[in-house]
Amino acid sequence: MATRKIVTIGDDILKKKSRSVENFDKRLWQLLDDMKETMYEAEGVGLAAVQVGVLRRVVVMDCTPDHSGYLELVNPEIISSEGEQFETEGCLSLPGESAVTCRPETVKVKAQDRNGKWVIYKGEGLKARCFCHEIDHLDGIIFTQRAAKGK
Ligand code: NI
Repeated sequence: MATRKIVTIGDDILKKKSRSVENFDKRLWQLLDDMKETMYEAEGVGLAAVQVGVLRRVVVMDCTPDHSGYLELVNPEIISSEGEQFETEGCLSLPGESAVTCRPETVKVKAQDRNGKWVIYKGEGLKARCFCHEIDHLDGIIFTQRAAKGK
């Protein structure tokens, strides 16, 4: 494993849409392993591949303080969502910036694992926010575009 450089705002790659993963091979596993190490080193709760300069639909996440909730999401999609929450959000690609966003309170996500198997995940609160934030990255959307108006 190795850490990779995190792309920061101002780099147009962050506005681009990522492509689906089709090959569940060593190259993908290397990317996932590197993203995991990069996320933990940066003390983030999630990281999308575009943030390390790779336009593929790949996300790693861990919303727990003790690193017990590590998740790998390949080709993730939100399949349902409920409620709403207004919380302060930040991003490793926008150091020092934060904004209150409006996100669903709960979401259900389907994603493939590193071997291509489909898995369903549920998240609420921070985890729901994180799913939404990271999947937005795959579509070139930054959290500041979700800033809640007048909050
Ligand atoms: Ni982010």
